[in-house]
Amino acid sequence: MKRRVFSGVQPTGDLHLGNYLGAIRNFVRLQNDSECLYCVVDLHAVTVWQEPMKLAANTREVAAAFLAAGINPTNSIIFNQSQVSAHAELAWVFNCVSRVGWLNRMTQFKEKAGKRRENASTGLYVYPNLMAADILTYKATHVPVGEDQKQHLELTRDIAIKFNNDFGIDFFPIVEPLIFGEATRVMSLRDGTNKMSKSDPSDYSRINLTDSPDAIAQKIRKAKTDPEALPGPAALINEGKEIDPDQEKARPEAFNLLSIYAALSEQSLVSVLGQFEGAQFSSFKNKLVDLSVEKLGPIGNEMQRLMADPGYVDGVLKDGAMRANTIAEPILKEAHKILGFLST
Ligand code: TYM
Repeated sequence: MKRRVFSGVQPTGDLHLGNYLGAIRNFVRLQNDSECLYCVVDLHAVTVWQEPMKLAANTREVAAAFLAAGINPTNSIIFNQSQVSAHAELAWVFNCVSRVGWLNRMTQFKEKAGKRRENASTGLYVYPNLMAADILTYKATHVPVGEDQKQHLELTRDIAIKFNNDFGIDFFPIVEPLIFGEATRVMSLRDGTNKMSKSDPSDYSRINLTDSPDAIAQKIRKAKTDPEALPGPAALINEGKEIDPDQEKARPEAFNLLSIYAALSEQSLVSVLGQFEGAQFSSFKNKLVDLSVEKLGPIGNEMQRLMADPGYVDGVLKDGAMRANTIAEPILKEAHKILGFLST
């Protein structure tokens, strides 16, 4: 049997290079040998305030990005979360399986709630339980994500293990995170110690997938660097697989830009370091601009075209929701039976 892959992206606007290299591009690659479900997670988005009109447009934007990046809506299932009620229903069950102590450890909640913790929505607090429900309502086994979602997937594993143990049954699979590629954690262009993020107030911190070639060029040219020439392969450890943490700490922006180049050019970081060893940032940036425009330009154009055709995008989402529901319903029913819920 093909393995079943599930992943989700929030429709919170400004999809960026990190979303693409850390997640969406990998979604495309997994289609060939896996049964894939890719979800626009609108229920997750409303854990913080969303303007309704914008949420609808952003939902279509994520769906358009999936399609423009190369996800085939016939082979894979593209849909939005709120159209399949099993997600919310199983999330309630998981609210009762998951422990307060587990959620208290979630770093993303701490970051997002910040000092205004008492004022955060309770949805934001139980957000990871809904993520577990997204995945397990399809009994998905593999989840492609960027590095920042690792802790949430560990919680998904804990929830599945506890559910199985509590009821003495081998029902939910223990999911495997798929975190791969040369850019699993793309950093801000303005500060290499911060993650590239939709919520960064500076648009210059990220390359948005819908940016024009001029905007991409400007952002890369203005990206923060340091005064040294570019490092070479000696900066890597573990047989060229990992950046030496001390060197990365000293030059986060350099390694971020080099990793972006490696990911976009589909080369290993070690070979990119070999190519640019001793080069100045100015000449490297010119190459990075050309490469970024070449790779991202067609995706941005296709996204714009699709977003101008909401009827088509909505049709893809509707068809996806129907197919997703067909998989989710029987699994949810079985879960109800295990729990002792009476059915009609
Ligand atoms: P979201 O919407 O924040 O991000 C979508 C995907 O993009 C990845 N990502 C990055 N990768 C590399 N570098 C970055 N700077 C970067 N920023 C974002 C994220 O890791 C993610 O894979 N909670 C999830 C959505 C979700 C989900 C799920 C994911 C809901 N249910 C079930 C997997 C399975 C989120 O907020 O992603």
